Amino acid sequence: MCGIVAYVGPKDAAPILLEGLQRLEYRGYDSAGVVISNKGLKMRKVKGRVADLAAAVPARFKGGLGIGHTRWATHGAPSDVNAHPHLSTDERIAVVHNGIIENADELRAKLEADGAVFLSETDTEVLSHLIARTVVEADSLEEAVRAALKRIVGTYGIAVIDAQRPGEVVVARNGSPIVLGIGEKEMFAASDVAALVRYTRQVVHLEDGELAVLKADGFHTFASDARETAKEPLTVDWDAGHYDTGGYEHYLLKEISEQPETVARTLRGRLDDRFHIAHLGGLNMDARETRSFRRVKIIGCGSAYYSGQIGAQLIEELARIPADAEPASEFRYRSPVVEPDTLYVAISQSGETYDTLAAVQELKRKGGRVLGIVNTVGSAIARECDGGVYLHAGPEVSVASTKAFTSTAVAFALLALHLGRVRDLSPADGRRICEGLRRLPGQIKEILALEPQIEELARKYAHSPSMMFVGRVRGYPVAREGAQKLKEISYVHAEAYPASELKHGPLALIGPEMPTVAIVPDDELLDKNLTTLGEIRARGGRVLMVGHRTADPKLADDCVVVPRNETELDPILLSIPLQLLAYHAAVALERDVDKPRNLAKSVTVE
Ligand code: F6R
Repeated sequence: MCGIVAYVGPKDAAPILLEGLQRLEYRGYDSAGVVISNKGLKMRKVKGRVADLAAAVPARFKGGLGIGHTRWATHGAPSDVNAHPHLSTDERIAVVHNGIIENADELRAKLEADGAVFLSETDTEVLSHLIARTVVEADSLEEAVRAALKRIVGTYGIAVIDAQRPGEVVVARNGSPIVLGIGEKEMFAASDVAALVRYTRQVVHLEDGELAVLKADGFHTFASDARETAKEPLTVDWDAGHYDTGGYEHYLLKEISEQPETVARTLRGRLDDRFHIAHLGGLNMDARETRSFRRVKIIGCGSAYYSGQIGAQLIEELARIPADAEPASEFRYRSPVVEPDTLYVAISQSGETYDTLAAVQELKRKGGRVLGIVNTVGSAIARECDGGVYLHAGPEVSVASTKAFTSTAVAFALLALHLGRVRDLSPADGRRICEGLRRLPGQIKEILALEPQIEELARKYAHSPSMMFVGRVRGYPVAREGAQKLKEISYVHAEAYPASELKHGPLALIGPEMPTVAIVPDDELLDKNLTTLGEIRARGGRVLMVGHRTADPKLADDCVVVPRNETELDPILLSIPLQLLAYHAAVALERDVDKPRNLAKSVTVE
């Protein structure tokens, strides 16, 4: 959420910052700005997209030191003045910031009384004024930044430059990620490796409380008490190609289409044909410990939480351990009872979602054992957990999650198989699940081939004022995720309900104006689901059925038929037509598919 880029080196910083901001735009896209240091600070910032900023940056913005930002507004509406960077009154200090400063109002009042002139409504601007006050007496910019940060309550990832120290950038992190990129006689920093991979794949992640000083010839990192810390650079696997649209019109369609490969990557090397188990070395648990858990509690936010509901169902069915999922954002605030025989599982594509990270930290503080199911290697949540499963789905750039959702469900199937096979899941059932998992990539390809049919259906239903999504047991999280996808990218209102609950209230909404997408797999609940469809049709409701067979036209107006797998794995396949439905509805309504309004990728604020 919000993007930061910084550069120091022999090249012109402006094009590097603009390119980096373009790569980070999915994290915030309401305004953007850059500052270049060259005999004073030169700044441009605009309300709008990075392309608008690029058009506004003059060619005379030369110089090898600069910082840039693309914003998702928290304090103050999107506007030119509220865009970052923010300068001190004497225009000596420039700051870009991700996160939230909770005591900004109090600090602002003090600074104003002391003569600072604030231009924006942002919380960030207190930082530039605070640092400007301390830098005068400090021996270094880092000392001034550290002194200013001591007065801050809240979260931050920041980059700071000082017009009077033209060869260095100071960055610091507390709750919002900062990654350093190590180049040849040049250094970069960013809030996400996406902005760095075009220039270097050698990176260093800052920990909370750490600060770094970057100069063209290298970097130094320091803990909050000013002690120097030693950091080992990591090599990132992802390269610039992973961040291109690859010829697709939108990242979202590219990411939906990648699912045969991304699911195959999540499975690669993890299925064992001899014992019909899953190899998950990253769990860091032996069989005895794995057997000792009596409960599984899954936490995540948004689509990650819905994939966690699929995961809970899989674990209960395959391992017969009571399991449930809860939004991490709720879990962390209700002072949860943490039990030693519960296995906690945190899910996150980005590995940065603040609510999920804070929930993991709360669990760790209370002695809970936490596994992470995470896509981004080396991310904060991955580092915080005791072990886990990486998805290996590659970077997800579109704001709406698709391939990470299916890969998470697949990772849960592996975890459930693993937990089941150290308990009572028979070798025969283990084998059945292994074989089912192996069939998934090919079956996803078959579903993707239905795109023309789904596109037509999307055009038919996209203009409905509202849509209902229903499913039962395994189908319910699929319905929830389908409704979430539709509303977030097409802005069509959608509700998801367990099909069994419809007649307890929401049936009152059903009529010709509110079509229903019904998830109807060919499982033990088929007859019950068909009865629900009859009830909807009897009230004049239109029905789009997604399942394994074509329904009687009396029960459904339209059907999307997906291939059968093992019933436990059905939710994975049933989710995919709903992604395509949401995508094509958003296209039909001419929405900004990859950057839906009001949203941003990676929610690093509370
Ligand atoms: C919806 C979506 C969000 C994320 C949620 C968690 O399409 O993308 O609901 O799933 O913000 O994000 P991660 O998985 O990065 O923790």
